[in-house]
Amino acid sequence: GLEKTYAMIKPDAVAAGKVDDILKIAEDAGFVVVRRQEQRMDAVRAGEFYAEHKGKPFYANLVGFMSSGPIVACCLAKHNAIKDWRALMGPTNTFTAREDAPKSLRAKFGTDGTRNATHGSDSPASAMRELKFFFPNLRLDPIPEGA
Ligand code: CMP
Repeated sequence: GLEKTYAMIKPDAVAAGKVDDILKIAEDAGFVVVRRQEQRMDAVRAGEFYAEHKGKPFYANLVGFMSSGPIVACCLAKHNAIKDWRALMGPTNTFTAREDAPKSLRAKFGTDGTRNATHGSDSPASAMRELKFFFPNLRLDPIPEGA
């Protein structure tokens, strides 16, 4: 059914001025942009968002990157939004994306293994947590009839 996911445009793509390009590609792929909000995360908040990666070798770089400049937090809606947004993004690593999915968002807009242009929730539970993290007032379900 119709589903919402949390999508984020990361500091590399925001600094490069690619937000509108990325959201146009999303809309052309059938996503509705329900929310779109530019904001800065400090290192504490970035660390909290990525808490599941604490202890991994890339964690410090990831937190430093995500707090290095503004991000654009989005709620996207579509049938199978979670899975389809991850497919549109392509593989996590930009270089892998360029090899295996050259039309993907990360292939087009990513920088390297950490600076990979976009994020997307990996499950319904993650989408719920991540949408609430950025949009505490968003009504997740049900989508009001006629809204
Ligand atoms: P994202 O999909 O936001 O989820 C975790 C992020 O950590 C990932 O994108 C990358 O920005 C970063 N990262 C860096 N190295 C790795 C790695 N080896 N595996 C997974 N994520 C990584």
